[in-house]
Amino acid sequence: MIVPNYLMHSDAARHEFDAYRVRRDFPILNQTVHGHPLVYLDNGATSQKPQCVIDAVNDYYCWNNANVHRGVHTLSERATHAYEQAREVVGRFINASHHHEIIFVRGTTEAINLVAQSYARPRLRPGDEILITEMEHHSNIVPWQIVCQQTGARLRVVPINDAGELQLDKYAELLGSRTRLVGVVHLSNSLGTINPVREIIDAAHARGIPVLVDGAQAVPHIPVDVQALGCDFYAFSGHKIYGPTGIGILYGKPDLLEAMEPYQGGGEMIRRVTFEESLYNVVPYKFEAGTPNIAGAIGLGTALEYLAQFGLEAVGEYEDALLARATEAVSDISGLRIIGTAAQKGGILSFVMDGVHPHDIGTILDTEGVAIRAGHHCTMPLMTRYGIPGTARASFAIYNTKEDVDALIRGIEKAREVFDR
Ligand code: ALA
Repeated sequence: MIVPNYLMHSDAARHEFDAYRVRRDFPILNQTVHGHPLVYLDNGATSQKPQCVIDAVNDYYCWNNANVHRGVHTLSERATHAYEQAREVVGRFINASHHHEIIFVRGTTEAINLVAQSYARPRLRPGDEILITEMEHHSNIVPWQIVCQQTGARLRVVPINDAGELQLDKYAELLGSRTRLVGVVHLSNSLGTINPVREIIDAAHARGIPVLVDGAQAVPHIPVDVQALGCDFYAFSGHKIYGPTGIGILYGKPDLLEAMEPYQGGGEMIRRVTFEESLYNVVPYKFEAGTPNIAGAIGLGTALEYLAQFGLEAVGEYEDALLARATEAVSDISGLRIIGTAAQKGGILSFVMDGVHPHDIGTILDTEGVAIRAGHHCTMPLMTRYGIPGTARASFAIYNTKEDVDALIRGIEKAREVFDR
């Protein structure tokens, strides 16, 4: 990988994408850990929040807190307006054709469980197949295992090559007459691989098979246009894209959402209830039983507007440059092996080091103020594929700088020295 010049010279960097300025929007970054300035490189697990998101949540509770879609009073109207505005922001962010295609959920995990139970379960028959990939997060494995147990369907898995790329020829072979749905991650949380989802969707659609895309790691890094992709379902979480925890979205094509059963029963999701039967509300409210996470939705909308101001192309290019710088630097460290070397990759550097457990790398880095994640990253089958217990993983965000990358490299070199002694 070639490291762009502007990451080699910080003055030039300021002209291209001013991460130094962006950093000032994130109050949490302004602290020391173990006597060192905090270097936060665990963005794949959760990103930090800009002040505007913190303020949006705070303002909601200070001034506008009320339940949505219910009250006739001013606060309820304000809360409803802000909540529905957030839905519109999400719709625009991923270019949905209508904001009613956006369902607020707790996060990617709940979105996938919703599709598994409301879309797949009533349609699956014994012997039917759900097709996923070897690099899926547990949240795009376990919901399908559960629905397979419930229905007698089978889970099939598309293998990857050693670089961490899907074997598309095997995918084509596995797409069969019993395949009822394809579930695929857009950007792998453990490898950084960016999958050719458009190609995957086209191949599935040629056989009339719907596709769900797990976009949890993709949306903070690359522009996502659900209409251009043609995906049937797209899921992501708020907290990995500078928004609050406990909120995320499921995008679904309107005809599919209309035809689906509700996920949970309760208030909000009904039009009329008698003891004999209930008439369900329209989409998306049919899938939003109970009082939603109103503050979370508002915070998410604010986060997406915040991120969108930079342009996702510029964001992706900047983070790719950080990754390139880190990748080049670690290639000089003896005994270090990168896990995930796909040609198309972004935002994530996963690695193992001979004789050093990933947790020890993470612990030594922490003493230097550098936060990374170590472990299986909720992708145990993927770790099994590589024959490793886990990896050490640095994941980049808009506020990371080349100095952060350098601190990471110094920390890894220190870990190497400690274990070489
Ligand atoms: N899925 C999150 C990660 O990759 C938690 O760290």
